[in-house]
Amino acid sequence: MKRIAVFTSGGDSPGMNACIRAVVRTAIYHGLEVYGIRRGYNGMIKGEFWKMESSSVSNTIQKGGTILKSARSQDFMTKEGRQKAYEQLKEYEIDGLVAIGGNGTFTGATLFFEEFGIPVVGAPGTIDNDLYGTDYTIGYDTAVNTALDAIDKIRDTADSHERVFFVEVMGRDSGYIAMPCAIGGGAEIVMIPETITSVPQVIDTIKNGWERSKTSFIIVVAEGDEEGNATDIAAKVKEALPIMDIKVTILGHVQRGGSPTAADRMLASQIGIATVEGLLNGKTDVMAGIVNSKLVFTPFKDTINKKKIINQRFTRMVEILSV
Ligand code: F6P
Repeated sequence: MKRIAVFTSGGDSPGMNACIRAVVRTAIYHGLEVYGIRRGYNGMIKGEFWKMESSSVSNTIQKGGTILKSARSQDFMTKEGRQKAYEQLKEYEIDGLVAIGGNGTFTGATLFFEEFGIPVVGAPGTIDNDLYGTDYTIGYDTAVNTALDAIDKIRDTADSHERVFFVEVMGRDSGYIAMPCAIGGGAEIVMIPETITSVPQVIDTIKNGWERSKTSFIIVVAEGDEEGNATDIAAKVKEALPIMDIKVTILGHVQRGGSPTAADRMLASQIGIATVEGLLNGKTDVMAGIVNSKLVFTPFKDTINKKKIINQRFTRMVEILSV
């Protein structure tokens, strides 16, 4: 292996730059040439390749976003698109790929490997932490801390005005962001896709709390909850409890940006090194992750298809701590 390429794809996450930096510098350390591919799979198809040096990643470890930019590529989902991407990689004589992203990125990567056989190792870059094969994904810790900081601020005003706040956090199919936000933010209720919490249950909890002289409430809702989004749920609760002053805050993309925490920089750096050394040791079609403090490589198919379960004791913790 002489020349590798690295790209970021899907939703960006804080720490992606730290990971790119680790990939570039590990490649150079081992005497490899390294290219960055801009705009994810779209850039691979169009040939947006950038020969990177050690200095290309100077002063990036602390930056949010991704210097390589990112995209969710429709074209790569077609055979024709993947064929074009393969031709570009051949033209640039790329022998191996590092794909930094989440579920969608790895779905594309495994298909591409099956069809064209270019070795590829993944790094888990998503704020959602919904990937099997790693305890934490790059960007998750930062996103949780950003959301928690916002919830602390919401709590101040919720308390002053004696209001009920529904705070929606990201996590399309997962409550991983919502759970630590609810526990760390002292929420009364957490609503996540992995567990059923009905609107009548929410109404009861608020009523009971009110009777026990609670005057403000924080309800953390993961955007993918089975009862709908925070706005829908809040409207139903307002109908049943018209006397309550109810507000909704959607934290949205603020959770995707910002300077990565120390934990994310460490994780990104460790995993970045592992992806390149994994490629050099013949790994392919796998994601590098850290499980119980140990480096592991998990087949892309498992990272996509196996569910990383949220520990049920966390739901119970929210209930106990909001009594
Ligand atoms: O996968 C990361 C994520 O931030 C999800 O939590 C969210 O549902 C989605 O991306 C939003 O994607 P986009 O930025 O493309 O709207």
